[in-house]
Amino acid sequence: MVELQKITKIFGRGETSVHAVNNVSLNIQPGEIVVIMGPSGSGKTTLVSIAGGLMKPTDGTIIIDGTDITAKNERQLPKIRLTTMGFIFQSFNLLQNLTAMENAAIPLLLAGQSKQTAFDKSRALLERLNLSHRSHARPRELSGGEQQRVAIARALVNNPKVIFADEPTANLDRAIGHQVMQLLCSVGCEQGKSVIIVSHDERIKDVAHRVIYIEDGKLIREEPGQHNRICTMRAHSYQLRDQRA
Ligand SMILES: Nc1ncnc2c1ncn2[C@@H]1O[C@H](COP(=O)(O)OP(=O)(O)OP(=O)(O)O)[C@@H](O)[C@H]1O
Ligand SMILES: [Mg+2]
Repeated sequence: MVELQKITKIFGRGETSVHAVNNVSLNIQPGEIVVIMGPSGSGKTTLVSIAGGLMKPTDGTIIIDGTDITAKNERQLPKIRLTTMGFIFQSFNLLQNLTAMENAAIPLLLAGQSKQTAFDKSRALLERLNLSHRSHARPRELSGGEQQRVAIARALVNNPKVIFADEPTANLDRAIGHQVMQLLCSVGCEQGKSVIIVSHDERIKDVAHRVIYIEDGKLIREEPGQHNRICTMRAHSYQLRDQRA
């Protein structure tokens, strides 16, 4: 589903240039959840931005769902992103003058769906993320964790085949962070999506099939994740949700 072939990214030129990503190759299957870990400045955000077509690599090829996105131009890329990918960033990038429900519906509205359909889907996702009671609030009226959940709803609303998440639980408390991981877990393995998560959070290994370590822009190690552990913890999480409701 996601194929990264010999990706290199160099920022700047000459003596001050930074080799942010250095010859990284990686294949991610449908239904597979891959976590990328590594020290600050090791190139994780750069790698994910390149994989999602948000940034051009200096060298290498990216194939998403059979399409070579490195060969696409600035006009073609947004459409591909809108229909096949979902993004969750550490800084939520929500539009301040729109409500939670409107923010979450944006990808569908941009893709030309009716307001009714877009808002129905957005509402359903917000409910799944325990946010239905805040669906008419604007971002500044929401806590960091609530804003992150809106951003997650927005990333999932277009039913993307690939989800990129850069530090998705960084601003969430333990219980909510767990629910977010559960949701990423269920959309990943039950709905056959590829999920790529950058994180410093050791708990995130619980949802991963594979954990990839990068250092100085290079892929240095890979180990299996604890994916099965969290899937068996589902009953506990739903209990948590019911308590809050
Ligand atoms: N636009 C840019 N111009 C120049 N250098 C950049 C740019 N973006 C990132 N870098 C550099 O590339 C390297 C990798 O940065 P990146 O943001 O990918 O790291 P990261 O692993 O995501 O770190 P963190 O865990 O702190 O988010 C760093 O040395 C950074 O300073
Ligand atoms: Mg980063």
